[in-house]
Amino acid sequence: MLRLDDHPSGRHFLQIPGPTNVPDRILRAIDQPTIDHRGPEFARMALEIFEGLKSIFQTESPVVVYPASGTGAWEAALVNTLSPGDRVLMFETGHFATLWRRIAERLGLAVDFAPGDWRSGVDPKEVESRLRVDRAHAIKAVMVVHNETSTGVTSRIAAIRQAIDRAGHPALFMVDTISSLASMEFRHGEWRVDVTVAGSQKGLMLPPGLSFNAVSEKALAASRQARLPKSYWGWEEMIGMNRQGYFPYTPATNLLYGLHEAIAMLNEEGLPNVFTRHARHAEATRRAARAWGLEILCRNPAEYSSSLTAILMAEGHSADAFRKVVLERFDMSLGQGLGKLAGKIFRIGHLGHFNDLMLCGTICGVEMGLAAAQVPHRRGGVDVALAYLSGAESASRETPPLSRTAA
Ligand SMILES: Cc1ncc(COP(=O)(O)O)c(C=O)c1O
Repeated sequence: MLRLDDHPSGRHFLQIPGPTNVPDRILRAIDQPTIDHRGPEFARMALEIFEGLKSIFQTESPVVVYPASGTGAWEAALVNTLSPGDRVLMFETGHFATLWRRIAERLGLAVDFAPGDWRSGVDPKEVESRLRVDRAHAIKAVMVVHNETSTGVTSRIAAIRQAIDRAGHPALFMVDTISSLASMEFRHGEWRVDVTVAGSQKGLMLPPGLSFNAVSEKALAASRQARLPKSYWGWEEMIGMNRQGYFPYTPATNLLYGLHEAIAMLNEEGLPNVFTRHARHAEATRRAARAWGLEILCRNPAEYSSSLTAILMAEGHSADAFRKVVLERFDMSLGQGLGKLAGKIFRIGHLGHFNDLMLCGTICGVEMGLAAAQVPHRRGGVDVALAYLSGAESASRETPPLSRTAA
């Protein structure tokens, strides 16, 4: 029989940038008998989830939950709002932006794909200038990946919103937050995002299998005119049934138990604290990388990701060979380079259910792996990360840490 927990001894370090480590609390929540998804108990839970999701997406708008991976939610965003032949504006920030573009093209949309170097986020000035010249308002949607999981580069969503406003353009604004939601600041409501796409398996700390569309009033209005064919993904029927706590088809009941628990955990910690924790771990990781003498892929510090750090492998060495050594010797999975970055970078995931000591273990594994794989580097990344973590006291926490000894 296939054994998936057959690791030598101790815990496997799952340091890919998603799916992330699922906390025991969530595993226990999922491990309950499946209930009748048309019964009253289910509706009570679902209504609590829909309310709770609004706090995570920072919105008053409905959040649709699909039993699907993130790719399904990408498709749902498009088929609900657009019509065949519509023009959309997208940006080549990396592998995931490229995949979203492919879906748009397969659906018959005309994509203006602004070229990028896979090391930078979307430039708000470019958004503004491209929209300003579109006087006829042919562009129906601007689509941006908030955190490019393939590169560890973020795009500044609030600044892009302002750029769209400055251009006075009515295009819908769609944002993929699959690897940023619940890890980095994201405000669907305040930033007037029309469709936010998200997934369960990263900051939400759940297994893969759920994905989300947060939907603005403007997007709902667009969906009444949109002519791309849709059935399974249709918002109207879904939002209608969700009001009573039900779904138009069988929901992923046990994953929803997990989602209910995840929302509780995030609210107990407090979203600002969750974001601060991720930012600290990202900073410690970057300091370690610099100490090793390795280059961070993201060029602009204002665009650093808090979810993951992508690191360029030393010239003449394979990042995949290095990752193989780390997996075999230290039982740690690191993220591979995707698309044109294959073999050239490795990615350290530091998002989701994660704390200082887990980060220390991760950094140790990377430093030991660099030595074991004979990659040229300087030692001392671990020391630098430890110094940062122990010195950067969590003064910015909004609530004091729980004391286990308190009565
Ligand atoms: C930013 C981003 N968008 C979209 C996807 C696709 O989601 P999925 O693989 O769950 O279909 C991913 C997956 O990692 C992602 O990181």
